[in-house]
Amino acid sequence: MKPYEKLLLHNKAWAAEQIDRDPEYFSRLAEIQTPEFLWIGCSDSRVPANEITNTAPGEIFVHRNIANLVVGNDINLLSVLQYAVQVLKVKHIIVCGHYGCGGVKASMGESDLGTVNQWLENIRVTHRKYRIELDAMEDMRARADRLSELNVMAQVENLAKTTIVTRAWEEEVRPTLHGWIYRLSDGILRQIIKIPAPQDR
Ligand code: CO
Repeated sequence: MKPYEKLLLHNKAWAAEQIDRDPEYFSRLAEIQTPEFLWIGCSDSRVPANEITNTAPGEIFVHRNIANLVVGNDINLLSVLQYAVQVLKVKHIIVCGHYGCGGVKASMGESDLGTVNQWLENIRVTHRKYRIELDAMEDMRARADRLSELNVMAQVENLAKTTIVTRAWEEEVRPTLHGWIYRLSDGILRQIIKIPAPQDR
């Protein structure tokens, strides 16, 4: 069996298992999605939003890109954000980074990765801003981990500056913005920053 065939086979088994447990499972989900959360995470295959939060399909609206970046002119991210805030009316937006992020590490290196390199410029902006603190750290892994934390903070701040979020805040007490970081070695999410709607502060 080819590796991709295994995916299709496992999908059949999974679907059957869901129906076994709850015959209405798919018909209910097909009707409507009412997620309370928007997740902006890294594309890294080891940080899947639903698995690590033990949530089911229908609970989290997800956007992922390399190094979980919120870039003001990224039409893909902005479309997801607008839909989540204005149509789905999510209550929380979570930016989730992770330690050991390949994107963060690559942003600190010299090698030219072409298009990816251009994307990673968004992390270098944060790197330059905190250069003194970061350069003082001798251990390169610790430095990359710290940059991963600072990157999450910067992306949540970027999110708070988008017109989609500021407009929602003018009218409602949502969304609350969260910055979390995930540790691959213990599977634990840690909170780094939280920005509630102004009326909620
Ligand atoms: Co990553």
